[in-house]
Amino acid sequence: MRDIEFVRSRFIKHFDGSTGYIYFAPGRINLIGEHTDYNGGFVFPGAVEKGILAEIKPNGTQKVRAYAIDLKDYVEFDLTDTEAPTASWAKYIYGVCKEMEKLGVEVKGFNTAFSGDVPLGAGMSSSAALESCYATAINELFGEKKIEKMELAKVGQRTEHHYVGVKCGIMDQFASIHGKEGALMRLDCRSMEFKYFPFHPDGYKLVLLDTVVKHNLADSAYNDRRHSCERVVEVIQKDHPEVTFLRDVSMELLESYKGKVSDEDYMRAEYVVEEIQRVLDVSEALEKDDYETAGKKMYETHKGMSQLYEVSCEELDYLNEIAMECGVTGSRVMGGGFGGCTINLVKEELQDLFVETAKERFAKKFGHEPKVYNVVISDGARRIE
Ligand code: GLA
Repeated sequence: MRDIEFVRSRFIKHFDGSTGYIYFAPGRINLIGEHTDYNGGFVFPGAVEKGILAEIKPNGTQKVRAYAIDLKDYVEFDLTDTEAPTASWAKYIYGVCKEMEKLGVEVKGFNTAFSGDVPLGAGMSSSAALESCYATAINELFGEKKIEKMELAKVGQRTEHHYVGVKCGIMDQFASIHGKEGALMRLDCRSMEFKYFPFHPDGYKLVLLDTVVKHNLADSAYNDRRHSCERVVEVIQKDHPEVTFLRDVSMELLESYKGKVSDEDYMRAEYVVEEIQRVLDVSEALEKDDYETAGKKMYETHKGMSQLYEVSCEELDYLNEIAMECGVTGSRVMGGGFGGCTINLVKEELQDLFVETAKERFAKKFGHEPKVYNVVISDGARRIE
């Protein structure tokens, strides 16, 4: 987490010298269950200790005055503005204000400064952290906390849909809001029920390796994947009206539609149906402390994301290959794909060797080292001061 005094000093310098309230919301990791959320399936995320730290103070006007400390960029908008600001980071704050208003919260103007330490483009949901931070703060400062946590997560999701143009699922915002120290969460994205899974894998560590690449068109490719899934559901639904998500489709049922949907859409759906099952398999394995099985499933996910869902890239595939060769228990691309991180479940005694090997071999091939982050599973969005 960023240093509170750092954010506070910038807030004081930038505004009228007085202080406000400090809020924090985290990024997330996801053990398994990728691109399953918008298909009504399961995900298995946890919040991390990195996130967005913001100081906020109501200013008695209708204006939001926002300072992005890391970017040294300042934006002001009026709450009655019908157009979102042009700076992409400010769209998130604007969108959250608008979506909170739609829920009946009388949002008032505020001064704010924020800073973050979720690496951008790493697939750790810096944008969900930003949305969750402001949704939580606005709910407390102007809404008398009347909006439920799950609804706050949806505020973030709707912000992405309506103001940013990414048709994301609910996983990232859910995780940022509901995170709990030391626990992963299995969320059923159809019923929205979830369960905390204490996660203290004895003798293992979770390590993220960041390729530090983010390929262009990631957002539009994400939306394309979603459309493929929806098209398959539409076709199956004609004969099976009970099917509303790929979650409702078994492999057997899907197979009977081979040739009735495009080959590409079929591949996408095949990945999703398998991935939903993998999350359940991993949950079962974790209940028995069986990390070997969990790890195997992670490798299967990587293969599916690379070959069927086609959201991996050369850099991620290479990191996955190195992990396999080093004997890492589980490894796969994490998040939406097209760059960002691999998440690795690695035996403690192997960690140093793996990280060193990955750095060296990756740098030789791509000219720069991957960044390394140790995962600390932490609490969700909250007021700090
Ligand atoms: C992004 C989206 C999530 C989810 C993942 C892939 O992070 O925001 O909703 O779909 O990709 O699992």
